[in-house]
Amino acid sequence: MCGIVGYIGHRQSQPILLEGLKKLEYRGYDSAGIAVFTEQGLEITKSVGRLANLEGRLSGDPLKGTVGIGHTRWATHGKPSDANSHPHTDNSMKFSVVHNGIIENYLELKEELVQAGHRFQSETDTEVISHLIAVEYEGDIVKAVQKAVRKMRGAFALGVLTEHEPDRLVAVRYASPLIIGIGEGEKFIASDIPAILEHTRDIYILNDGEMAVLTREGVELMTIEGNFISKDVFHVDWDLMTAEKGGFDHFMLKEIHEQPKAYSDTMRGRVSEDGRSVALSELSITAEQLRSIDRVHIVACGTAMHAGLVGKTVIEQLARIPVETDVASEYRYRSPIITPRTLVIVVSQSGETADTLAALREAKRNGARVLAITNVVGSSVAREADDVIITLAGPEIAVASTKAYTSQLIAFYLFGLHLAQTLGTQDEAYIARVLAAMQSLPEQVERILAQGEVIKEVAESIAHNRSLFFIGRGLDYAVAMEGSLKLKEISYIHSEAYAAGELKHGTLALIEEGVPVIALITQEELQEKTLSNIKEVKARGADVLGIVNEGAEAEIAKSVDTLFAIPRTLPLLTPALSVIPLQLLSYYASLSLGHDVDKPRNLAKSVTVE
Ligand code: F6R
Repeated sequence: MCGIVGYIGHRQSQPILLEGLKKLEYRGYDSAGIAVFTEQGLEITKSVGRLANLEGRLSGDPLKGTVGIGHTRWATHGKPSDANSHPHTDNSMKFSVVHNGIIENYLELKEELVQAGHRFQSETDTEVISHLIAVEYEGDIVKAVQKAVRKMRGAFALGVLTEHEPDRLVAVRYASPLIIGIGEGEKFIASDIPAILEHTRDIYILNDGEMAVLTREGVELMTIEGNFISKDVFHVDWDLMTAEKGGFDHFMLKEIHEQPKAYSDTMRGRVSEDGRSVALSELSITAEQLRSIDRVHIVACGTAMHAGLVGKTVIEQLARIPVETDVASEYRYRSPIITPRTLVIVVSQSGETADTLAALREAKRNGARVLAITNVVGSSVAREADDVIITLAGPEIAVASTKAYTSQLIAFYLFGLHLAQTLGTQDEAYIARVLAAMQSLPEQVERILAQGEVIKEVAESIAHNRSLFFIGRGLDYAVAMEGSLKLKEISYIHSEAYAAGELKHGTLALIEEGVPVIALITQEELQEKTLSNIKEVKARGADVLGIVNEGAEAEIAKSVDTLFAIPRTLPLLTPALSVIPLQLLSYYASLSLGHDVDKPRNLAKSVTVE
């Protein structure tokens, strides 16, 4: 995730910016840069790769000055490169901008600017912002920023400098976090508290639609419409480690809580303004090519494969094309039938998983077209695929994948709808209905997260069992598999996921008094059947937790021991909600057993061996 740091004060800014960026390294990044007012004017140095590369460039030629902005970039628009790194500037080189977030309408804005004679150095959406501000500048940087911001749609946290007003630093927040640090004769901006904690513990937290104008002496706070506001100073009493985790005890819990934002970010700019259709403008595959597809193979590992299991149902239901989902390490060796009419979808958070990459290459060798769903722009999978849908979950640090999985689900929903739209398999009204329901998911996830304490209690009550089961039918079965994997990997409790109707063909022998069974019962048309399977396990002494839809509690209560209700959505979308209590369950089970939640034994975040 991109990081922002800015400084205006009496000390040299370069070391403060670099130190601040280092404190944000844990968020992940692929390039970095700083802009400083020097005696020569606004000077920018940037470099792809680690911060050490940037430091290397600056060591021979330091930027001397007491006002500056810095940035670590996590690519979203355009690959990681020197040119795409921030800060960006305009053609006059008098304005400089660092930006976190995504400008949805940047292509439109860029086109207008190009027609007016502007030249661009990068593929980024951010560069458009520096040009826009330059166009709007009439002697007051604050007004210019306000005017530019009004033209932008999307999410942004900005730090802006202009050579015309070297004693002001402007900060804006809109759907991307930004804080202001208050020191004696010096002020700071940062995307996250750790970046400035060494210098000050007194901060203003900007809300969406607010901006700040920083000078050495003070901070003016206002809305982006220009109305002045006042705010209480927030005193941070966290240590650095707590600050890195945003106040959460672990990265995993932080990432679970980041899911509403990950959903919105992954949808942003991919749904038409009237909300009636999907617009995946990043895809180069044509309508004609999509129409020629006669089968889809989804290939991935672990949690990403589980997202693929949901993806199979999504594509089959929406587009009526047959889909097979495979474990990547098996795919190549089963001699799959791949033809030029096969679309192979590879799913990978890291984009570097060796088995997934090998499957991608096998698919291409056999003439298939490959679509990648990945979280990392510029990763091997993203580079080698024909088309890429980037999930905008931001970097995932905890080994156990949570927000990457749910963002992959969102990507499947979007792609499934895109296919349906192109093939004409669903009518416009239905597509609009699914999209409207998707827009409600972030708020519905928030409602589940607010009940974390309830799940914590359940987790503590099951954590000392040696083994447990997850059961469900249809999409509930796909989610059960993810719930079971999550529990195993961080709590080390043995668990199995079973298609609810399959238990009686053998595994039922393992059910005895007190064995916990987590039953997902969110697919209404399968509810009765699942309830019969629950009766089978209850008759053998199982202790059943039911994950159900709000409104179904009364009907299901008598069949289970404990209930957890999730907000109601369309059956196809329930995995994006029902997995959240399961993530929390494994988190709290691991916590209560005293395990290292973020770094479970024997596992690595990126698996680059076959
Ligand atoms: C489990 C988990 C793994 C990964 C798998 C694939 O929480 O994170 O199962 O999903 O190793 O990794 P990516 O998605 O990076 O290809």
